[in-house]
Amino acid sequence: VGLQWGDEAKGKIVDLLADEHDIVVRYQGGANAGHTVVVGGKTHKMSLVPTGILHPNVTAVIANGVVIDPATLLKEIDGLQQNGVHVGGNLLISDRAHVIFPYHRKEEEAVETGHAAIGTTMRGIGPCYRDKYGRGGFQVADLYCPEYFWPRLEAMIAHKNAYLSAVLPGGFQPFDAAALYREYLTYAEQLRPMVTDTGEYLHGALAAGKRLLFEGAQGALLDVDHGSFPFVTGSNSSAAGVWSGSGVPARRIDRFIGVLKAYTTRVGRGPFPTELLDATGDLIRNTGREFGTVTGRPRRCGWFDAVLVRNTARLCGVDALAVMLLDVLSELDELSICVEYVCQGKRTTRPPANCDQFAACQPVYRTMPGWKRDISNARRLGDLPAAARQYLDTISELVGLPISIVSVGPDRAQTIRATD
Ligand code: IMP
Repeated sequence: VGLQWGDEAKGKIVDLLADEHDIVVRYQGGANAGHTVVVGGKTHKMSLVPTGILHPNVTAVIANGVVIDPATLLKEIDGLQQNGVHVGGNLLISDRAHVIFPYHRKEEEAVETGHAAIGTTMRGIGPCYRDKYGRGGFQVADLYCPEYFWPRLEAMIAHKNAYLSAVLPGGFQPFDAAALYREYLTYAEQLRPMVTDTGEYLHGALAAGKRLLFEGAQGALLDVDHGSFPFVTGSNSSAAGVWSGSGVPARRIDRFIGVLKAYTTRVGRGPFPTELLDATGDLIRNTGREFGTVTGRPRRCGWFDAVLVRNTARLCGVDALAVMLLDVLSELDELSICVEYVCQGKRTTRPPANCDQFAACQPVYRTMPGWKRDISNARRLGDLPAAARQYLDTISELVGLPISIVSVGPDRAQTIRATD
């Protein structure tokens, strides 16, 4: 699970750990996520399909908590197959997952062009979750029940057309219910072999002693309950989403790995106390290639914020940390880590709930020397310069957890297991 604002390079960690598991499960989010995995110099970009699909012996599961845009999913499956990845019986889709329709993206457009914009990925995620919680959405299973699906879709589209023509000032081409119905039945037929009761499947797998790996999308600071509201995503992107989003109870999970960058990034709007709006921020962005996988937007970059990560690690019940992209900091003379905030004149280690108060928090930094050396070939902790080890030790001490993995480059091989 990501402990920051997403993009912590979770895809690489899942890819590394997938070999030790039989099943990899996505439990929340949708095509707002972007996972890049580099294997043997070949780059795979995934959005909805769990990264575990790259392993021939792993079954990838898109569980009930995910919101699925069927056109995007089918395109992604096609792209993977063209890239030589087998997708067949090894991908399962929950019949309870909610479905994204084109009107969801239009609704998002209406919000994101107004004063309440939060800088979303424009994939229809928030509106789809809103319909789910408003009890108006459609589950994958509903697409296979025409007597249920058609009248409800027709009524829904009449409602959405009325709403959208009122809120989209530039004019709006109303949706044709019958055409959309036919389009979604076609998608449903294409997906049919993969659709199943994934909750039942996962419980059966547990009973058979199979090893499950849950792959978080976004990060805990974007969690709709625990994140920097309202600048969050529509799901529980902390570990809190595992149980509701998969049907597997929390007590069946043995170990939580918190994935974090050696610095902080954020895409979209919202508070970011350690943001660097200077040349150092630009250096991190360019060295770390900090541009969105899904939207291509430049990511906002800043110092590592131990206040936030200590809170999200606690929230997620994390056992150990995976520190990613340490190599990106190699050119810096000096590094800072936020250890505390000053909020409304008081020192605190807890971010305030209100976003304006959070945005006004002043970070208190601990500064330490950089290592100024290429570390991308390090394969053991002992290969790292003393200053890099000191930096990692400081993160571990401030967050209060051991570090089990350190990543020094995008390739699978560029990884240090702290036990090595
Ligand atoms: P949404 O998930 O598209 O509704 O976007 C809500 C917020 O979450 C925006 O600030 C997005 O930039 C952010 N967000 C959503 N998905 C990701 C992700 O995978 N990585 C980083 N940020 C994300």
